[in-house]
Amino acid sequence: MEIPYLEYFGLNERPFGLTPDANFYFESQTHREALEHLRFFLMQKEGLACIYGDVGLGKTVLSRLFIDSLNKNIYNTALILNPIMDDKEFLQEVLTELGIPYDNNLSKKDMFSRLEGFLLEEYKKGKETIIVIDEAQLISDETFEFIRILSNLETDKEKILHIILFGQQELIERLKQPHMRYISQRISVIYRLRPLNFNEINLYITHRLLKAGSKGFVQFEDNAIPLIYNASKGYPRTINIICDRCLIALYSKSGRSVNDKIVKSVLKDESLGPFIEKKEKTFFNKKGIYILVTVFVLLLILLIILSIFNIIPVKDIFKDIFKLKGG
Ligand SMILES: Nc1ncnc2c1ncn2[C@@H]1O[C@H](COP(=O)(O)OP(=O)(O)OP(=O)(O)O)[C@@H](O)[C@H]1O
Ligand SMILES: [Mg+2]
Repeated sequence: MEIPYLEYFGLNERPFGLTPDANFYFESQTHREALEHLRFFLMQKEGLACIYGDVGLGKTVLSRLFIDSLNKNIYNTALILNPIMDDKEFLQEVLTELGIPYDNNLSKKDMFSRLEGFLLEEYKKGKETIIVIDEAQLISDETFEFIRILSNLETDKEKILHIILFGQQELIERLKQPHMRYISQRISVIYRLRPLNFNEINLYITHRLLKAGSKGFVQFEDNAIPLIYNASKGYPRTINIICDRCLIALYSKSGRSVNDKIVKSVLKDESLGPFIEKKEKTFFNKKGIYILVTVFVLLLILLIILSIFNIIPVKDIFKDIFKLKGG
């Protein structure tokens, strides 16, 4: 698809696309911590690992980046992006990903033996195998049971297969259920992804612009950042949606920098509604406090005027009050 603003802003590609492209990866604090947990998991060679968090926090991008970062001379990897399948299909997918030849007519048992044989052979060569499953909240109970069996594959000394689950919040809710104990008890490393913090928003935006080839023909002004942070709550996908709209708006105005006015105009767009958390409407927001202070000041002025013209004997009223208090 032709992106209208690319040439105008001197960009090679769309900086705020929605695909989880690992080339655009920005190492925020939470993403770095998640990777550290995964590296620790690979060192300890035990159980399963689980990285979970809300939608749009960067689980898929992280799973891809993690796999890309591994030394291919040491690790074989299988990435399962969509685990909505039965256990046989799951096994087939794992074999395909690991490049193990098989025939569709093979029984499940034979396929499993093939996988086991491959893992042992690779282990002897000093290679470890990792299965990364994205969208793990969609795994059926039946496939989870199969994953448990897979996670039991080990030599006398250590596991020969490492399994990492990436999933949305529901994954944890499911794993907490009593009938899932057989799998949750095997999770040795678990980490919850968080949104980006305020200080990371500017860096994230600049990083993505640079990755898209920016030579500085477009920028986001400081006064735009708090608005983007408040509307996105630091969720990278929402930041991307807002920033992409800002670039379109800026292009239509033949501008060069996104300021607070552009962001405000973008945030007003109804079609952004589903992506942006609306602030809770309480009276004690800035506007409410402003109204209260104004009313108070007006009442005070009225009282002073009434007392000056002696329409209400304010002085006497106060005197009475203090007399009463003093007894
Ligand atoms: N650390 C990051 N660096 C750069 N871009 C990121 C980062 N985290 C998330 N994004 C971007 O945010 C968007 C959403 O990321 P991703 O698809 O990985 O989220 P997710 O957690 O897998 O969401 P879902 O739960 O819906 O599957 C993508 O465009 C991705 O490129
Ligand atoms: Mg995802």
